[in-house]
Parts: sequence; structure tokens; C-alpha cells
Amino acid sequence: MVQNPRGTRDFLPAEMERRRSYEGILRQTAQRYGFREIQTPIFEEAELFILRSGPNIINELYAFKDKGGRDLALRPEMTAPAIRAFVNNMSNEPKPIKIFYFGQCFRYERPQSGRYREFFQFGAEIIGTATPQTDAEVIAAALDMVKALGLKEYKARIGHIGVLRKELVQAGVSAEKMPEILQKLDKKLYEEAWPLMEAAGMERTDAEAVFDLTGTVGGIGVLNKISGTESEYLKQVLAYLSAMGVDAPEVDLGVVRGLDYYTGMVFEIEAPVLGAEKQICGGGSYTLSEIFGGEKVFSTGFAIGFDRVLLALEKEGAVGPVNRVDAYVVAASSDTTLKAFEIAGLLRRNGISADIDLADRKMAKAMKHAASIGSRFAIIVGSEDLKNDSVTLRDMTSGEQKAVKISDLPAEMRAH
Ligand code: HAM
Repeated sequence: MVQNPRGTRDFLPAEMERRRSYEGILRQTAQRYGFREIQTPIFEEAELFILRSGPNIINELYAFKDKGGRDLALRPEMTAPAIRAFVNNMSNEPKPIKIFYFGQCFRYERPQSGRYREFFQFGAEIIGTATPQTDAEVIAAALDMVKALGLKEYKARIGHIGVLRKELVQAGVSAEKMPEILQKLDKKLYEEAWPLMEAAGMERTDAEAVFDLTGTVGGIGVLNKISGTESEYLKQVLAYLSAMGVDAPEVDLGVVRGLDYYTGMVFEIEAPVLGAEKQICGGGSYTLSEIFGGEKVFSTGFAIGFDRVLLALEKEGAVGPVNRVDAYVVAASSDTTLKAFEIAGLLRRNGISADIDLADRKMAKAMKHAASIGSRFAIIVGSEDLKNDSVTLRDMTSGEQKAVKISDLPAEMRAH
């Protein structure tokens, strides 16, 4: 039997309904903040992701040559494509530009619960402003989305990658050596970071200072421990968040992020219920446009791991919305089958969802099927009722039933 590829999933109707309704909530929330949707290709020139995403992403890239010999890659994330689309098509539009996107991404990772090779991101970017207000707006939108989905337990952490970068540069680390070291620090793998730091020319005491920094966690007060513009900047971001009524994220200077393009504020949201793969959202400010041939433009954005946040909701016991068909039309005998189809047509024209027996089943079996698909009502079309231009409407939950004139059926159904 041919199976779906490792790390991918099929979404069956009940799951798809749940996913679409949650997607709708995210879309509505994004629109409430003035973001507008874009869609970019699922594959891009591989270069787009190789130029600046960092070693992790490059190792996980689904890259291939097409028949024309072009080097392409399935997108591992959507920030680089969004900025490419901006450089290609939107760079003359009034700034800031607020966009959002939803779609699948591909990373060749080791699959486990909450980690897939094909997964979905819902993300947003504000392009063209580099202010604490912009960063606050992005964090507020991300937190609002998670809240709107109904997730109960989550925690946001905010940091500034500039603090670590500055420290590393001062200790003699070159731009080429930086990404590898930051990757290790991101995962708090100090033992593995040290040899790289040493090879980059760092003293052990400087390395210790960097390790200490990554462990700087707490309320806004911890920002007083570090001096400089980054600390002042984060205080302003937190002030704007507070003005918008957003609960303050924890300050954590150890937020490094797995991607290499961040330059300023960075943040993550996690759902503890998920255990190991608990990061449900990540983002921050960066510049990428100059690498793709545009002018240097500052942006801030985030992406929610859609699959992970849904997994967290499920673990918290959230019952996703279920779509049930309004009516299942059953012909009581073979001579009323045509009339049954006429009624299904009438209901659908009136905006009522209707399903109908397609298998020439006897009435008892058709009723069983109506129950198994969760139809709210069954409409039984029998020759006796038809003499009075009526059908029998049966409430599948209570079992109550009554005769209803066919002409009254749409209104009667709408009333329920
Ligand atoms: P990221 O942290 O690499 O950031 O991914 C964002 C989210 O996608 C993660 O927090 C996680 O929930 C989800 N995710 C990542 N990999 C997987 C996977 N293999 N399976 C399931 N979910 C996964 C970015 O991609 C940036 N583009 C975010 C951003 C936008 N920064 C600025 N703008």
C-alpha cells in the first residue's frame, strides 16, 4: 500500500472543518489589526532561503533542480518569500505595509508529535517601520491571535538579539562565525557553543558572560541589569504593549531564535501543555530586503505554528466547532426518489445544507446513515404526505417529528 510521505498528514473532513474554523479566527484577528493577506509560491529559488536563514534552515531544506536545471526549494518559512514579494511588487507603496499569510512550509526535520516535515504557518509582517510601536503591534497581534483561538495556558518571552550580537562582536567573533554560535545558544547547548566560541577567538571569561546573559530572565526590572539602547528600546515596547492592555511578556535575553536574519527585538510564545515541541509562535525584527536586491527596509513579524497551536488546544480539551449538515433527505419508497431530489434542490437554493441518499437504500438504512453523518434533521419523503404537499421533518436529536408543507420547509428549517 502506498502511504503518505513521512512527516506529512492527511486531513480528513472533521479535522479539516476544525482547521478551517480556527484559520478563520486567525484571519479575522489579523484583519482587526489592519493586516492584508498575500500568497506566495510554495517553491522559490533555493537562494532565497540560503542567503540569510542560517545553518539550521539550510540543513533542513527540501532543495531540488527542476527540468530546466534551476535550483529551487520548497519554502521552509514565509518571511523571506514575503520580503521578496515586497521587493518585487510593493516597495513603492506607502509604509508601513501590513501583510499576513497562511500556508504550508517544509522542513526536513525528524518527525515527532508537533514536529512535521510539512506544517502550516500563520504569519504576519509589518514592513517599513523600525519603531518600538511596530514591535509592540506585532506582539499584540500574535498574543491576540493565540487568545482568540481559546488557548488557556501560554507564555510569551521577549528579548533583543542585539544584546548578544554586540557582546559576541566585542569579544572578537566575526560575522561568519556568529550564526553557528547563536544556533547553539538558542538551544542553550553551552558545551557545544564553547568550542565554536574558542575557535572564533573568544576568551573563556567572555564566553561565561555571554552564557550569563542568555540566562537573564524576569520582569521588566531585569532590563536594568544591562545598559544601552537595547534595554531602553525593550522598555518602550513593553510600555506600548501595556497601553494596549496586553499582558507583559517575560523578559528573556536568552531568546535567540533559530533563524539568522533577526537584528533587534525577538519574541516567542510557548504552550507548556505541548512538552518538548512547545514553541507555538516566533518572531522579531529583521532586515532582508537589501539581500534580495531592494533598499534596506526594517520589518517585524511573527509566525504561529498552526499545527502546534491546534495540538495544544486539543490537549487542553477544547472542542473544536463541528459542521453538521442541516438535513438529510430520505425517500420512503422508490417512487418518491425524484421528489426527494427536488426537495434537496429546494433546500440548497434556500441556503440550507442538504445531503441525500445516493445508494438506493431502503428507508431504515438511509435513516441510519443520516444519524451516522450527524445530520440535524431528516426529511422523509413519503407518498401519503405528498398527497398534502407535505413531508415529515424529524429532529435527529430529540426524535420528534411532524408533517411540514414543502413550501414552508425552508422557513421551518431556518427557524431551527
Ligand atoms: P520559526 O520559529 O522557525 O520562525 O517558525 C515559527 C513557528 O512554526 C514555530 O514557533 C513553530 O510553532 C512552527 N514550526 C516550525 N517548524 C515546525 C515543524 N517542523 N512542525 C510544526 N511546526 C513547526 C519562522 O519561521 C519565522 N519566519 C517567523 C517570523 C516571521 N519572523 C519574522 N517574521
